[in-house]
Amino acid sequence: MSTATENRGQFGSKLGFILSAAGSAVGLGNIWKFPGKAYNCGGGAFLVIYILMVALIGTTVMLAEFTLGRKTQKNAIASFRELNAKWSWAGGLGVLTGFIILCYYCQVGGWTIKYIVGYITESATIYADPMNYFLTMLGANGFPLQGAIIYPLIFLLLTAFIISRGVAEGIEKMSKVLMPLLFILLIGLMIRACTLPGADVGLKYMLTFDASTINGNAFLVALGQAFFSLSLGMGVMITYASYLSKDDNLVSNTGIICVLDTCVALFAGFMIIPAVFATGIAPGMGGGFAFATLAGVFQAIPGGTIFGLLFYFLLFFAAVTSSTSILEGTVAFLTEEKGWERKKTLVIVSIVLFIIGIFYTFSQAGFMDIKGIWVSKNGVEFPIFGDFLEYLTDRLLLPLGAFFTTVFVGWVWGVDNAVKEATSDGKFSFALAPLWKVLLKIVAPICIIVIIIAGMVLGMSIS
Ligand code: ALA
Repeated sequence: MSTATENRGQFGSKLGFILSAAGSAVGLGNIWKFPGKAYNCGGGAFLVIYILMVALIGTTVMLAEFTLGRKTQKNAIASFRELNAKWSWAGGLGVLTGFIILCYYCQVGGWTIKYIVGYITESATIYADPMNYFLTMLGANGFPLQGAIIYPLIFLLLTAFIISRGVAEGIEKMSKVLMPLLFILLIGLMIRACTLPGADVGLKYMLTFDASTINGNAFLVALGQAFFSLSLGMGVMITYASYLSKDDNLVSNTGIICVLDTCVALFAGFMIIPAVFATGIAPGMGGGFAFATLAGVFQAIPGGTIFGLLFYFLLFFAAVTSSTSILEGTVAFLTEEKGWERKKTLVIVSIVLFIIGIFYTFSQAGFMDIKGIWVSKNGVEFPIFGDFLEYLTDRLLLPLGAFFTTVFVGWVWGVDNAVKEATSDGKFSFALAPLWKVLLKIVAPICIIVIIIAGMVLGMSIS
């Protein structure tokens, strides 16, 4: 994206935009986060809620962000400001949310590098006790030098390097090969995981609709997960769309990106949950599904270590295409809006987010018992700092950012203007426009607010 920042109109080809936007969307959210949420929130019922959230609200918000970006050809904050000067704070909210996400995103991105190295140098140690390997990385057995410091720092430096050198275009070119490869690998691993002895229980769990697991909490988790996974509410999609021309069909792009992203999440879910049941390794909230649990799958495949290596490399790549898109938003805000010098901004932002991020990993396996700062009404405390960060972004800031976007596009800028932009002034057909108008103006904002309140009030369980 950084090249695009310096050179407007760079998405000459349709594929370039789809790859960039899908590259931002597909990341740790799909593979590291999604399966854990699905596991904790009822399996099959959660899948149904999630798909519903993406189909009704995710697509609605994504198209709104696209219209906003392309109409103004500006970054997230300037987009809001251009259409109504009183609303630039709404773009700022997205940038702030992206920054907080990055604090822990870079930590988990670092874990993917640790696992790449792990599968090259010590796969036997991983296989011998996958859970212990994972928890040791997080500090269960002493200072997590690698899990919290060295590898996250490498990940962050790579992210910052890509942005500082403007090599995002090269990354996008690599996406053409690596994204389809990730897709194919996930399908292959999913099939293998589903055929492991004992995996049928997990498969059944993912395919059974148990209505008793549906509550306000599950809806809020699904909603926040959808926004996180689709890179909505972070200003990213607004900025990406600002490089599009009227020749690009925003409506079909929205559909393609949402379907791709959701497929990757579902593949990951159907790969990891059956493996959880088959291997009996079920890490708690620590987010160990994509790390500890998969060792059992790789062990069961001929040449599994090579597949493990490939998997973590592709996961790392997917994470970098997301982290660069988010970091660019923060850097663009400080340089374009606050007049900071670009290199200095990158250094300061990286240092601050790295320091905050360290405590995310410290808190995961109890290396440091960092209590959350908010005790809910029914007395349940956020157990750890890391969970607090995720609660803050996924359950509050992302949905709020999306809420304000729908209100702004639907009511302040005006839904008819947005439809005009979505269709490139009538150039493309948009049969669902009447439905989108209702979703944007009424259904999405009301649902988002109701779900935030219901989720907050009805459930504080960790998921
Ligand atoms: N959308 C990005 C992800 O899912 C942030 O990882």
